[in-house]
Amino acid sequence: MHANLNMKSIVISIFLILLIGILNKPVLADDIALGKAKSETCLGCHAIPGYNNVYPTYKVPKLGGQHAEYIKIALISYRDQQRSHNTMHANAASLTDEDIDHIAKYFESITK
Ligand code: HEC
Repeated sequence: MHANLNMKSIVISIFLILLIGILNKPVLADDIALGKAKSETCLGCHAIPGYNNVYPTYKVPKLGGQHAEYIKIALISYRDQQRSHNTMHANAASLTDEDIDHIAKYFESITK
């Protein structure tokens, strides 16, 4: 009798833990929306027609449609100064891993 009750509460606990896990999982669309908000400053350079900065004229890499993993690796290396570029180091310096994840998913989602 007693043992049976314990078994029941264990099963219910496991069920609740699994349910919380599922509900807590961030939905991709939410990540993309957050990434979009966090990318406003980036778009001034990375979303310009022809991918040439106006003045001084220099090439800016196209990010839309790139794989999220590729963008993530690039941002982490700028942030951690493994890849040097003053402008991009300044832009990536304050990003958290979570920010980078959201931003990368956002750029990957842009196909046009
Ligand atoms: C002032 C203009 C400017 C701003 C603002 C800017 N970037 Fe950049 N970004 C550049 C330039 C120029 C490069 C090329 C740097 C190089 O040669 O390493 C670059 C490179 C990159 C790369 C590497 C792309 C590749 O193909 O290797 C990524 C990823 C990137 N930027 C993401 C971002 C994100 C995310 C933001 C906003 C948080 C941002 N950038 C803001 C100018 C800018």
